[in-house]
Amino acid sequence: MEFPFDVCRALRPGNDGIAIIRSKDCNTREVCEIIDAMGNASAKAQGLRAVITTAVRFFSSADTALYIKIEGKRVVGILKTGYRKLFYSDEMGRISEITPLCLLDFYVHETLQRSGHGKELYTKMLQVSGVQPNKIAIDRPSPKLISFMRKHYGLCDYIPQNNNFVIFREYFRVISI
Ligand code: ACO
Repeated sequence: MEFPFDVCRALRPGNDGIAIIRSKDCNTREVCEIIDAMGNASAKAQGLRAVITTAVRFFSSADTALYIKIEGKRVVGILKTGYRKLFYSDEMGRISEITPLCLLDFYVHETLQRSGHGKELYTKMLQVSGVQPNKIAIDRPSPKLISFMRKHYGLCDYIPQNNNFVIFREYFRVISI
């Protein structure tokens, strides 16, 4: 997606073309414009009635991070994460409370999907947050995201929850020494 200003100057990405913005950072009009446009496009791509990511909501939330991929003069995609307190129900109906890092929004521009940009954003998020893929909870994953998680991380098995978050069974995997 193109903008009528220099997106690199506005976002200051690293050498990998990915900028990381945290909700406690200072915002600028240009950064807000990028967040609003990409958030809107993400909602459309997912067929959502309400937009999940807006600049106002992002900068007023606690402990939320936004990864933005840039290529040349274009913004390619966004990935948003934050910690959430969730109730998890196992197959026996036993409830436990967990506070995982959650994938809250994820979008790559239509013309650039299936070219590896999503994997680059996800890899960066895992590196920066220091969290293993099986420990990420996902808010209402789309069919494309379900396919993405299976392809790149071999994650596909989960118990549907009332809160619509997907927590893969591997979240609870105990590694024996
Ligand atoms: N149909 C099915 N699977 C797809 C599709 C598609 N149209 N697009 C991507 N995928 C999955 C597949 O597993 C694909 O592998 P394949 O091409 O071998 O089948 C894999 O993703 C490709 O990986 P990347 O190229 O790294 O992913 P991409 O850059 O396309 O980003 C993303 C993945 C973010 C899901 C992107 O496809 C997208 O923006 N989709 C529309 C919006 C969306 O569904 N976002 C997730 C919502 S859920 C949430 O945000 C918590």
